[in-house]
Amino acid sequence: MSDTLFPLDLASVDHVLNTTRSVRLRLDLEREVPRELIEQALTIALQAPTGANTQTWRFMVVTDAKLRAGLAECYRKGAERYVNDQTPMSRTGVSALREYAADDLRQQQREAVLKSGGYLMECLQDVPAMIVPCIESRFEHEADVFTQASMWGSILPATWSLMLALRARRVASAWTTLHLLYEREAAALLGIPDTYTQAALLPVAWLKGGELKAAKRLPLAEVCYWNRWGAR
Ligand SMILES: Cc1cc2nc3c(=O)[nH]c(=O)nc-3n(C[C@H](O)[C@H](O)[C@H](O)COP(=O)(O)O)c2cc1C
Repeated sequence: MSDTLFPLDLASVDHVLNTTRSVRLRLDLEREVPRELIEQALTIALQAPTGANTQTWRFMVVTDAKLRAGLAECYRKGAERYVNDQTPMSRTGVSALREYAADDLRQQQREAVLKSGGYLMECLQDVPAMIVPCIESRFEHEADVFTQASMWGSILPATWSLMLALRARRVASAWTTLHLLYEREAAALLGIPDTYTQAALLPVAWLKGGELKAAKRLPLAEVCYWNRWGAR
C-alpha cells in the first residue's frame, strides 16, 4: 500500500475514532455478519503493535448457536457476581470495579448504561457473532508491571483496532469483560488451551438505526499533564 492517500480524509477517520461506541441496544440480532467482513476487520487488527513482534494473539470467532449460548451464560453469571459481590477485595477485585463503576455511573449516564447493560445480558446469545481475543501466556499470581504491560499491550490494541475496523463497515460491537469472571469455563467450552488468556468478548452485529455520536468524556485538561505530574 502506498502513501498516496495523503492528505487523508481526516473527517472520516476522526468520525470513526470519535463514534466507535460500546453498542448494546442497537445490535441487529436478525442479520448475519458475513465471514468475509469479519476477516477483513481482523486482518486490519493484525496491524496493531505486538510485543517483540511475537504475534502470539489468537482470535476466536464464535457463531455456533450452542457456543454463543454457553458464552452468554458465563457472561450472565459474571454480571451477577459483579453486581452482587459484597466481599471487600483488592483494588483490582470485583468490588473495587463496582465502586469505580458506581462513581462513574452516578456522574454520567447511569440509567442508560444500566438499561443497555441489562439488555445485552438478556440477548447476548442472540448476537450473530462474538469475538474473543486471546493472548499466549498467563499470570495467575503477581507479575511485574513490565510483564503485565507486555501481555495486555500485545492484545488490547489489536482488539480496539478490530472494533474500529468493524465500525468503519457499519458493524457494531461492544467491549465486554464480565464473562472473564468465568474465563476457565469459557476456555473449556471453546477448547482454548490453558496457556492462553482471554482479554475480552466482543458481541458483533450490524448497527441498527441512525448515526452514533461522540461520547462525553472528562476534559483533556483534567487528564493530561505536560512534563510534570499535575502540570498543565
Ligand atoms: C476494560 C473494559 C471492560 C468492559 N466491560 C464491559 C462489560 O463487561 N459489559 C458491558 O456492557 N460493557 C463493558 N465495557 C464497556 C464500558 O461500559 C464502556 O466503554 C463505557 O461505558 C463507555 O462507553 P463507550 O464505550 O460507548 O464510550 C467495558 C469497557 C472496558 C474498557
